[in-house]
Amino acid sequence: MEKLIIHKAKGLTGTITIPGDKSISHRCLMLGSLASGKTVIRNFLRSEDCLSTMESFRKLGIKIIRKKNKVTVFGKGLYGLKAPKKMLNANNSGTTTRLMLGILAAQPFTSKITGDKSLCRRPMLRVTEPLRRMGASITGKDGGNYTPLTISGGRLQGINFRSKVASAQVKSAVLLAGLYASGKTCVTEPVKSRDHTERMLGYFGVKPDIKGNTVCVKGGRELKGRKIEIPGDISSAAFFIVAGLIVPNSKLVIKNVGINPTRTGILEALLKMGAKLKIVNKRNREYEPAADIIVRPGNLKGTLIGGKIIPRLIDEIPILAVAAAMARGKTVFKDAGELRVKESDRIKTLCTELNKFGVKTRELKNGFIVYGGAPPKGAKSISHGDHRISMSMAVLALAAQGVSEIKDTACIKTSFPEFFGLLKKITG
Ligand code: S3P
Repeated sequence: MEKLIIHKAKGLTGTITIPGDKSISHRCLMLGSLASGKTVIRNFLRSEDCLSTMESFRKLGIKIIRKKNKVTVFGKGLYGLKAPKKMLNANNSGTTTRLMLGILAAQPFTSKITGDKSLCRRPMLRVTEPLRRMGASITGKDGGNYTPLTISGGRLQGINFRSKVASAQVKSAVLLAGLYASGKTCVTEPVKSRDHTERMLGYFGVKPDIKGNTVCVKGGRELKGRKIEIPGDISSAAFFIVAGLIVPNSKLVIKNVGINPTRTGILEALLKMGAKLKIVNKRNREYEPAADIIVRPGNLKGTLIGGKIIPRLIDEIPILAVAAAMARGKTVFKDAGELRVKESDRIKTLCTELNKFGVKTRELKNGFIVYGGAPPKGAKSISHGDHRISMSMAVLALAAQGVSEIKDTACIKTSFPEFFGLLKKITG
């Protein structure tokens, strides 16, 4: 079992560049495969999740060449995919599974998709239900709620879908199916989730219609292969932003961070907690904005994190909980029931692991409370197979007295294989 040994840090210094965004890397491969002509991707994230998407498209007959983090996808147009000879395997990746379901639902062949133990526990009905309404047949365990799933695609018709959850994976799956459906397909969310699919569809020449929280696409329009440079993943940057805030005597420059406004809830929450962050060199690429972030330690105070901001920081709650542990007073996380169905039940796993460092917490149905301010002590922590739990606890360990051990850290490779290397660089 892989593990990390982490000592209390005296100060973190240096300049680091964050690898490509995971959500955007998946989508580049998907739209590149469905587009006509070549798509050249730079700063592609070479994480296990994104490689699962790549492998799935190869099984569907798409030629994809990768040299380090440059990827060339030889798209064959909307109707160029072939029936796969083998079952597709999304491994740990919810984004691969749910977005692929949208694409597979529209194909004139039968396919199967599965994943690892954690993925097989994650709910899929939120995607299979609207896709069935569009005309696809999807079967699997518990009425199609869990992988492995079998998808018999076909002629789809456009729908007006009101999603109960604010989920970019649900929205994207339905919109991708909508590319093939007759008429118009619209998705309305209770709160707007990350909009990478919408932006990239526009960049590939199929601009969706967006009004408030409703996004619509018309079927049958051709996507055109593009050149794309992916900005760094703010969800990965978040670990280093919080590390720089909570370890005294730090100064970190974090370069090339994606600052799409549907993802920057973490920055707003930290600023509200009193963080010293400078966002500089803002630049707007054709389809996604980026910036550099300078972090210095600061006195953080507890806050309330809930409501509309939640989808804009959902993946950063584990590391925000670490910031909360180091802040004065209590921090309440609410309206975050979605945490229960991530790579682990993050409400439970976060409370359990924070407690090991001596941080008091209280579990709520749709959130939790962190009672911050007491100096954390080194601990033996475990990932529960969840990459964001292990990286968050590794960051807390940098501020904890003595030595800590984080067990079962292989899962970090699903989103951020460079994490430990970058950590070593700034700890000296
Ligand atoms: C993602 C959407 C979010 C997020 C996940 C990536 C995406 O999931 O938590 O890590 O790329 O669309 P939900 O759509 O389930 O909220």
